[in-house]
Amino acid sequence: MDGFFAGIEQLALVRGLKASFVAYPIVNALHIMSIGALLTSVWLMDLRILGAFRSLPQPAFVALLRRTALGAFGGALVTGSLLFSVRASEYAAMPIFLAKMTLILLAGANFLVFMRRAKGGDEPAGGVAIVLAALSLVLWTSVLFAGRFIGFLG
Ligand code: HEM
Repeated sequence: MDGFFAGIEQLALVRGLKASFVAYPIVNALHIMSIGALLTSVWLMDLRILGAFRSLPQPAFVALLRRTALGAFGGALVTGSLLFSVRASEYAAMPIFLAKMTLILLAGANFLVFMRRAKGGDEPAGGVAIVLAALSLVLWTSVLFAGRFIGFLG
């Protein structure tokens, strides 16, 4: 596995990213932009499910924010993978990085459970929706904190 991560660091694209004065900070800024859009859309969507902003029609509001969150997550995935590639072996051995990846998997699983229960067009109702939305808030916010801690605990 060590050889695999060392191999990633030696890819031409990754060496270019490392060598360039501007590329890494730009990718880092795009990661932060994606994270900002993701956290904002997740918070607004989950707060609506938890009963806030009742004057806004829930299905349209939640559908728009879900699309935004998925697009933002795609951006975070691409830019995060590029950041990872520069020091792949180091990050792969860091407990805080692994904790962040585990939290992302848990948040993704929570989203899939929500979508499974929403099959047939209806959002899960009542207690289930509240628990899943609250879990989503806690998990995505924890991913944000874990991400920021990588630079300090690494
Ligand atoms: C999806 C796959 C992702 C990967 C592979 C990834 C990977 C990384 C890497 C390698 C760094 C640089 C860490 C450092 O040396 O300081 C980073 C930074 C960060 N990531 Fe991610 N990330 C991903 C998604 C996310 C998501 C979804 C969030 C938030 C919800 C997030 C939040 C952060 C934060 C806050 C930072 C610190 C940015 C800074 O202060 O410069 N990441 N990420």
